[in-house]
Amino acid sequence: MVSTKSLLLAAFSTIAYAAPTKGPCKSLTPTLPSTGGDDLISPSPTARLKKIVIGHGIQNYTCVSALGAASPTPSATGALAVLYDVTTLYPGLSKSSLSLSAFNLLPHALLWDRPVPLNRPDNSSYSASTTSPFPAHSDLTNLANYPSLKYAGHHFFDNTGTPIFDLDVSGLKASVTKIGNVAAPKDADRGVLDTGAVAWLKLVDNKKGESKGVNLVYRVQTAGGNPEGCVVADGGNGKEKRGLGVGETQSVPYTTFYWFYEE
Ligand SMILES: *[C@@H]1O[C@H](CO)[C@@H](O)[C@H](O)[C@H]1NC(C)=O
Ligand SMILES: *[C@@H]1O[C@H](CO)[C@@H](O)[C@H](O)[C@H]1NC(C)=O
Repeated sequence: MVSTKSLLLAAFSTIAYAAPTKGPCKSLTPTLPSTGGDDLISPSPTARLKKIVIGHGIQNYTCVSALGAASPTPSATGALAVLYDVTTLYPGLSKSSLSLSAFNLLPHALLWDRPVPLNRPDNSSYSASTTSPFPAHSDLTNLANYPSLKYAGHHFFDNTGTPIFDLDVSGLKASVTKIGNVAAPKDADRGVLDTGAVAWLKLVDNKKGESKGVNLVYRVQTAGGNPEGCVVADGGNGKEKRGLGVGETQSVPYTTFYWFYEE
């Protein structure tokens, strides 16, 4: 019979945290947030949490004309984000831990406080350089009301369209496929284009042999990132609503937490 304590120790042996030295033993199990409605299937009880990062970047879409559909619809084509380590800010994990409410507000705070941290061909849009989208690695400092966040890695889609999380600072890597999604809560941050928050996701290792040290990723507490609409077909009143046409692409800013596990 394995004790609860040894399970907890096993679960967090990979995370540096300052254990409370006095007082009643508090639970140190970080729990994935709930949407308040449908939730993603939880990690198994033996899954070990390796890292929590915040991502800030863009979600890409292109408008496609689906067979039989009256008007084009946005189709997700990938994403790019810079990742910062927030593991020790999770309540109870270290001396610099935040309150749960302050922790959960981080994606909202970052989305509105900073420009998207990607190299852009021009300064006016939310695009990214196609050849060299990521700027030199740097920590995120002076975010209002928050401590500095250490650079952790990058999220991108490789040339086969596979989502990759390269946590180069810690040597962790996840090459994943999506196995679950639920809508973000109704009160989630709708983002700088007021399009809504992208869904929360459960992603697992895709068995390509590229992942290192992690094989399960959750995207939770999303802010922004949903597409703007495509052109809406003329409903007969002569007024065509504005939007993107077939083949046109857009990049929409977003922030989110990614939780990385090995199970
Ligand atoms: C983008 O903004 C930076 C800083 O304001 C400026 O130095 C640079 O010239 C701008 N680049 C373009 C292409 O407008
Ligand atoms: C996303 O779009 C930007 C242009 O805004 C492009 O540079 C980047 O390569 C695209 N990335 C993906 C993964 O689709």
